[in-house]
Parts: sequence; structure tokens; C-alpha cells
Amino acid sequence: MNINILAIESSCDDTSASIIQNGQILSNCVANQEAHKLYGGVVPEVASRAHQANIIPVVDMAIKKAGIDKKDLSAVAFTRGPGLMGSLIVGVSFAKAFAMSLKIPMVEVNHMMAHVLAHFAEAPKPTFPFLCLTVSGGHTQIVMVKDYLEMEVLGNTIDDAAGEAFDKTGKLLGLDYPAGPLVDKYAKLGQPIFPFTEPKVDGLDFSFSGLKTSILYFLKKQIKTNPNFIQENLNDICASVQTRIVSILMNKLKKAVKQTGITEVAIAGGVSANSGLRNAIVVTGKELGWNTYIPRFEYCTDNAAMIAVTGHYKYLKGEFVGQDVVPMARMKL
Ligand code: KG4
Ligand code: ZN
Repeated sequence: MNINILAIESSCDDTSASIIQNGQILSNCVANQEAHKLYGGVVPEVASRAHQANIIPVVDMAIKKAGIDKKDLSAVAFTRGPGLMGSLIVGVSFAKAFAMSLKIPMVEVNHMMAHVLAHFAEAPKPTFPFLCLTVSGGHTQIVMVKDYLEMEVLGNTIDDAAGEAFDKTGKLLGLDYPAGPLVDKYAKLGQPIFPFTEPKVDGLDFSFSGLKTSILYFLKKQIKTNPNFIQENLNDICASVQTRIVSILMNKLKKAVKQTGITEVAIAGGVSANSGLRNAIVVTGKELGWNTYIPRFEYCTDNAAMIAVTGHYKYLKGEFVGQDVVPMARMKL
């Protein structure tokens, strides 16, 4: 009999549903929320209401696209955390009601574990153990992945996440939210001529708040003498910011490889869509003899396919949760 799992992702501002059959992704539908552009960041209450409006059409679409029938579903997997409480509640409540009505089990999924397991949505798949740099709007981690469901966090950000560094500096430059993809776009047209210093942080941990402050002071100083400094130098500023963020990430990743001796190296999360980072990991990998893995774009940013893959492996182990499950905004990996 087929194992068909419906997966729901609603941790931040994307509502997504996916169907996985025996470990193969059949559909992955995402409804993005444009409203946050107006506010320059995700507004939790707005996100939560949009999830409520989007979740039923997105789930319907995922089931339809997969070409299966609701009654053939074996389980519902859902993101329990980490994320915004109001957003998580919508997905968790939906999963509970759906599972109850179909009398099928539920599987809880950690969003950060799912970003890592996005690598198993399709080939080429890394072999265990591998290192994964997970870089998103909320997290920056180096994870040692020993098996599908066995992961150890080796390094973490001590302040802002890499995605936040992109979004917050982009905001200083007057770019729309999320600014990461726009900084990436302009960086391609410029040169990294402005030096922003690399923070000194122990071990495999990261820090990005100092970079944001140094960019703020740099811009303030330049604007004093030239009010049009940002407009005239946007591409070069973006290239400089991106180059520094990428070098901070790559230096720690190189250190992690040296420390562990593991040369299977992957990147995951929204920031792994960044062209500078994608390029850096390929070039460094070739130079240092690593096998590198970069997910397809749709599996980098938030998506339910990654929840489906994780749900599949947890289903095989019989790791189910009951109707008393509640979301966990600060769920740890
Ligand atoms: O993983 P994700 O979709 O959501 C979270 O779990 O946070 O990551 C979103 C983050 C945002 O900060 C966004 O600006 C960043 O990923 N991002 C990028 C790019 N595409 C998305 N950052 C830099 N360059 C990109 N091309
Ligand atoms: Zn994410």
C-alpha cells in the first residue's frame, strides 16, 4: 500500500501544502503573502490572517495536483515550530481538524530539521554524515547531520540571522521586504569596493548585528557629504554587503569542515537562494575537494515539500503525536 502524506507549512509568511507518496514529492504549492511589503517586514497578525485565508485553497490545490484522493492519505505532517505563534497555530489547528476528520495519524515536524532534509526531496542527495549550513530569515546554523532524524547543531548565530542581515541592510538602502533577493540582484551589477569588517566570534557561532551597525554608520557618514550616495552606489553597496555576509558564512563552514573532517557539505534555507553564496560553495568545494549540495530554488525558501520529506521519515519510524499537540514558537533542533 502507498504511504501518502499531506504536509502543511505555516511557520512564517508562506502558506504551503505538499503531498509525498512513498518518499516522492507529488506536489508542492505555496501561497506567498505580499501584504508585508507595505510594512517593511512580516507583521505577525497580518501573516496569521492570511494563513487562515490561504490554507484551504492551498491544501486543495496540493491534493488536486498530486492526483490522489483525500481518503488515500496515510497521515498529516505539519510544522510545529520554530516560527511565529499566530502563524503556527493556523497550520497546527488545520492539521488536527483534517487528521481527526479522516481518522489518520499526525506527525509533527521541526522547521529547521525540514530545511536540512529538503536535500532528500530529489537527487543528488548527500550521504551521511554531512554538514549543512542552514541560513534563513530566522536562523543561521551549522548542523552535523548523522542520519535523517539525527542532527547536532555545531554553530548558531548569537544575534541576527543571515537573512535578517540581508533584510535589515536592504531596508537601510530603501529596498522592499524581503530585501535579500533584491540585494542579490543589485550585487550582480556591482563590485565589492566598500570594506565592511568581519566580526570576531568564537568557535562556529555567527554574529551579524555588528555588520548591520557598521553599514548604518558608513551610510550616515557618506550621506552627509553626498545625499545621493545610496542611489549612486546601490550596486556596489549591495555587492559589498553580500560579499561580507557570504565570507562570514563560508569562513565558518570551512572551519567546521576542518574540525569534523566531513567533506559532504550542503546549504539550506532561504538565503541559500543567494547567488553569491551558491557560487562560493561551489568554488570552495572544488578547491578543497568537498562534495557540495544546493537544493533547487523552490526547496530553499519555505515550502511544505521539506515538511513532507521529514514527515515521511518520521512516519516510517512511527513517530506520531496526539490531538493535544500545541505549536512551539521556539522549538529547538
Ligand atoms: O527560509 P526562508 O524562506 O524563511 C525563514 O524560515 O526565515 O528564508 C527567508 C529569508 C529572507 O530573509 C530572505 O531575504 C532571504 O531568505 N532570501 C535571500 C534570497 N532569497 C531569499 N537572501 C539573499 N539572497 C537571496 N537571493
Ligand atoms: Zn524557513
